[in-house]
Amino acid sequence: MAEAIAATIKAPVFAITSSQPSVVENFDMLILGTPVEGFRPAKEAADFVKRLPKAEGKKAILFCTCKLWKGSTFKILEKELSSKGYSVVLSVSKKGIKLDKPTDFSDCINKIQEALKK
Ligand SMILES: Cc1cc2nc3c(=O)[nH]c(=O)nc-3n(C[C@H](O)[C@H](O)[C@H](O)COP(=O)(O)O)c2cc1C
Repeated sequence: MAEAIAATIKAPVFAITSSQPSVVENFDMLILGTPVEGFRPAKEAADFVKRLPKAEGKKAILFCTCKLWKGSTFKILEKELSSKGYSVVLSVSKKGIKLDKPTDFSDCINKIQEALKK
């Protein structure tokens, strides 16, 4: 999903597992995503957000992929981000991910593009 978003809005992609959280300092907008695992963000995503530098009103968009239900995924990430001074302007989830079939992310990507215009 990250690759699909990046290709549409022409933004670079950074893998959470191999990037330093300080990379966000080079950008005005953070778009961060995670698969849902046990109704929560993946541990790698939650850890990355905990290690992000503080920001003063930097905008953030969250996205997640899940099979059935996102549970507390956004609540957990939104709480951590706002405590660090980020402003989450949109959270979008893509439900019904089937690992053996390609997924159409266009509904989520359209919402992200709308949010970026504001
Ligand atoms: C350990 C584990 C826990 C998961 N927990 C949930 C869950 O709580 N809710 C849900 O809808 N999907 C759950 N899933 C399904 C994943 O969210 C789904 O396969 C994933 O979003 C696909 O992401 P990817 O395209 O990045 O591989 C879980 C998958 C794994 C492996």
